[in-house]
Amino acid sequence: MAAPPCWHILGFGAIGRLWACHLARAGVSVSPVLHSAERLRTYPGHVTLCTDAGEAHFTLPGELATANTPIQQLLVATKSYATEAALAGVAQRLAPKAPIVLLHNGLGPQQRVADAFAEHPVYAGTTTEGAYRDGGERLVHAGRGSSFFGPLNARARETGEAALEPLLTLPLEAHYDPAILHRLWQKLAINAAINGLTAVHDCANGELARHPEYREAMAQLCQETEELACRLGQPLFETPLFDQALKVAEATARNYSSMLQDVRGGRPTEIDAINGYLCREAERQGLALPAHQRLLEAVRARHPNHHGD
Ligand code: PAF
Repeated sequence: MAAPPCWHILGFGAIGRLWACHLARAGVSVSPVLHSAERLRTYPGHVTLCTDAGEAHFTLPGELATANTPIQQLLVATKSYATEAALAGVAQRLAPKAPIVLLHNGLGPQQRVADAFAEHPVYAGTTTEGAYRDGGERLVHAGRGSSFFGPLNARARETGEAALEPLLTLPLEAHYDPAILHRLWQKLAINAAINGLTAVHDCANGELARHPEYREAMAQLCQETEELACRLGQPLFETPLFDQALKVAEATARNYSSMLQDVRGGRPTEIDAINGYLCREAERQGLALPAHQRLLEAVRARHPNHHGD
């Protein structure tokens, strides 16, 4: 039997590595596409996955975007602001109808990629898996979560979930959801209530629930998000968004949001694809979202070299 085609992984951070290790463990060949010749030179070609069950080592030979092998299947796990440029760098290598799977926070890039690559089935995913890099090539899978993948364009709706095999059958809890936009909006609404505030106040998620002033700011953000979602006819949760956001802040009380980690690490943040996305959608509707706008500006001020989405 012919070996299953390779999955190329663009964006080799914690989430990209987590999927790469699990694909490799399932016997699928995986090729991380690294962003520079310097990175390829220092990358040892393997990753160690650390879980409660111990450590496992996976050989994952890296390559550059300029390699010339065709890409049959592509998982893009970059940060939202890097997705489109990273994809443009490998576009000429995509085999006809190669599925593209986008796995990042926020909204904006997904729709543009789905339109720009209309000949390819384009899917989006959202995950609550918790993983972080622990120096060098070690990846710690710290918190088990769940993931959903679903179609973004007509070609993906026609193709259905078959193109996502084996992403859906790994020992990570992953499901196919044809209404993926709803899930992306739910994640966006939670991220928009938590991440920017923690970045500006330099606090753990739980502080937002405890501190009256931060809690009030979170309530305002949630109310504005709900107003926009309602205007767009976009359902969110069955219970108020603020209750959901509080629940997440409390459940992850000691965690530092991904955006705060980016600010602390001096990296660009995903604010433009989160609160920025909401502000742009609101503007199209003639709606003002002052709390999101203020937060957007405050986070941008913390990282002046932010990338637009
Ligand atoms: O982006 C994040 O950090 C997380 O999704 C969450 C739970 C919203 C905040 O820690």
